[in-house]
Amino acid sequence: MTKTWQPEHFWFGGDYNPEQWPREIWDEDVVLMQRAGVTVATVAVFAWGRIEVTEGNFDFEWLDDLMNLLHANGIQVDLATATASPPMWMTQNYPDILPQTYDGVTLSQGSRQHYSPSSPTYKKFAARLVRKMVERYRNHPALVAWHINNELGCHIAKCYNEDSAHAFRVWLEAKYGTVEKLNRAWNTAFWSQNYNSFSQVQPPRQTPTLINPTHALDFDRFSADALLSVYRAEVEIVRELSPNVPVTTNFMGFFKHADYWAWAKEVDFVSDDSYPDPADPLHAAQTAATRDLMRSLGGGANWVMMEQAPNAVNWRVHNAAKPAGMNRLYSMQAVARGAAGVMYFQWRQSKAGAERFHSGMIPHAGTETRVFREVEALGNELKEMPAVLDSRNAAKVAIVFDWHSWWALEQGQSDQEFTNGNTKQSYLGEMMTYYRAFFDRNILVDFVAPDGDLSNYQIVVAPNLYITTESTQKNLDAFVRAGGQLLVGFQSGILDENGHVYLGGYLGGSTNNGAKAGTLQETLGILIEEFTPIAKGAFDSGPLPKFSIEGEFNGKAKVWAEVLHPTTANVEAKFVDGPSAGHPAVTSNVHGKGKAWYVATRPSKAVAGQLVEALAIAAGVSGLLSEPIANVEVVARGENVFVMNHNSHAIKLPADFAAKHKLAETVEAYTAAVGNSLA
Ligand code: GAL
Repeated sequence: MTKTWQPEHFWFGGDYNPEQWPREIWDEDVVLMQRAGVTVATVAVFAWGRIEVTEGNFDFEWLDDLMNLLHANGIQVDLATATASPPMWMTQNYPDILPQTYDGVTLSQGSRQHYSPSSPTYKKFAARLVRKMVERYRNHPALVAWHINNELGCHIAKCYNEDSAHAFRVWLEAKYGTVEKLNRAWNTAFWSQNYNSFSQVQPPRQTPTLINPTHALDFDRFSADALLSVYRAEVEIVRELSPNVPVTTNFMGFFKHADYWAWAKEVDFVSDDSYPDPADPLHAAQTAATRDLMRSLGGGANWVMMEQAPNAVNWRVHNAAKPAGMNRLYSMQAVARGAAGVMYFQWRQSKAGAERFHSGMIPHAGTETRVFREVEALGNELKEMPAVLDSRNAAKVAIVFDWHSWWALEQGQSDQEFTNGNTKQSYLGEMMTYYRAFFDRNILVDFVAPDGDLSNYQIVVAPNLYITTESTQKNLDAFVRAGGQLLVGFQSGILDENGHVYLGGYLGGSTNNGAKAGTLQETLGILIEEFTPIAKGAFDSGPLPKFSIEGEFNGKAKVWAEVLHPTTANVEAKFVDGPSAGHPAVTSNVHGKGKAWYVATRPSKAVAGQLVEALAIAAGVSGLLSEPIANVEVVARGENVFVMNHNSHAIKLPADFAAKHKLAETVEAYTAAVGNSLA
């Protein structure tokens, strides 16, 4: 669903927590904010204890003062509902709000987010606070958006306490209606797990060995819904009292525990927190993927990068600083990929508290610093950005992204036990194998939900679509018939939505060994006989063994192999060695006006590149630069062309490309150059 939110100006600013500072500093802050081009501040995210000082006693005077001060200085406010960190009086008076881990440990107060998403007590107090906040500030001239809670689920994604157990049973009853249906869906005949009533169901707490996979999958779904219910409870009040002010909550990129396709429908605009590790050589592509996800969640509309670190974070084992230029580079990457806002955590680096060494827009050393100078320059540059707010990205390629498959594929209680029955797998690893191949060729990718509209795309990739419903198979099949190029990766179409295996060759197959119309078996023209995965730990320890494929596609592969049989497909490459030597590794099937490709392994970077190039040629899709430059990202957003050099050295653009887009030929290290493609 395409969002319609359009800010009147670009958002630049960050989380602003002045309640942690003496009042005199506030006056200095607003002066510096103006100097840095700040347009929006996110306020009150963790201020519950400062607002509701004791149970039922609210002090808003300081916040009135702050809102007025910001307004008087031309700074708009993204006002948080302040529910992210419950105050001490609540844990003291109502310890039932505290969350519990799956092994029965109750987590204590003393940091933040110490509440169960299913706690009626927490929700009751949160609702009262939200009502007070909204009643008080809904007409404040500084207010530009409501910021619900904060990073819902970032610490407590799944809770196993009694409130959660109760809510899980209610959720199951709503889903299944009768306990017999639940027994069938969970196949409880296995290991004597049949339930006589919903009251017997427990959350999947620590058990002696493998848990029932459908039980665990439903708990993942329930837990995601429980988080969403915290959001909804707040939003309902906001919409009732303040219907004209847009609402958001900050997402966390590819966050496993919330199906953001469901969430995206309930925000007025998508916003995201983004903390790439500057020390990770693969971060440019990974971060680009999160930007593309955010744009896709909003149906292509403007989104806001709600948080990023101006420099280092404080929560990794190694907290690398961002080299000069990287802050701007990552900010421009967000803008290039659809953002209408570049915001930070946080305005002023804390002097004390758990995040005192997390960078801030104003570092400990003050304003005569590289970090502040970079922030100031960027804020002022963004003010002048040519018409980005009105322009959109247009991708011809989509990757199917499915949280349910992610949950099911990686399900297990520990590193030793997996219910997928084969090997430890990485949903994001498989997805990024293909994403990176497009990224390296400057081909823009959207993400789509499994049943999403595919009609705008020429290429669709479905990596690890482990759970595949009938409607999704029809969606993919129709895309191919209509002329699309579809690539399906291994371990797709294995399970139905209840986690039951498709018999008779997988890929949505029927039980009688015949390809059912509209299944992936038919679309791909293959049957799978058996899996022969290769994984670290499969033969002792040691690195992941690599093996090779050859044919139209040549090179190394890893993780997975299998034995498959083409029915109507052509064999494009075979396994040279490994447990499935001689069997097909890549197939393609002409189907309707299009073609459906299947890849039975995790291709190496080189092989993924060959595959993506074959798809691109077949579909007539090309990148902006005909000869891509390593670690250089080129993205068009409307008439703007962004060139982002992630290398620590300068690069040269081809002269004709530079001239066409009005760019200088040299792009310095860690620099983004913005050109224009209008004649
Ligand atoms: C985010 C959070 C912020 C701050 C930041 C530090 O997860 O929303 O409040 O903690 O991380 O990187």
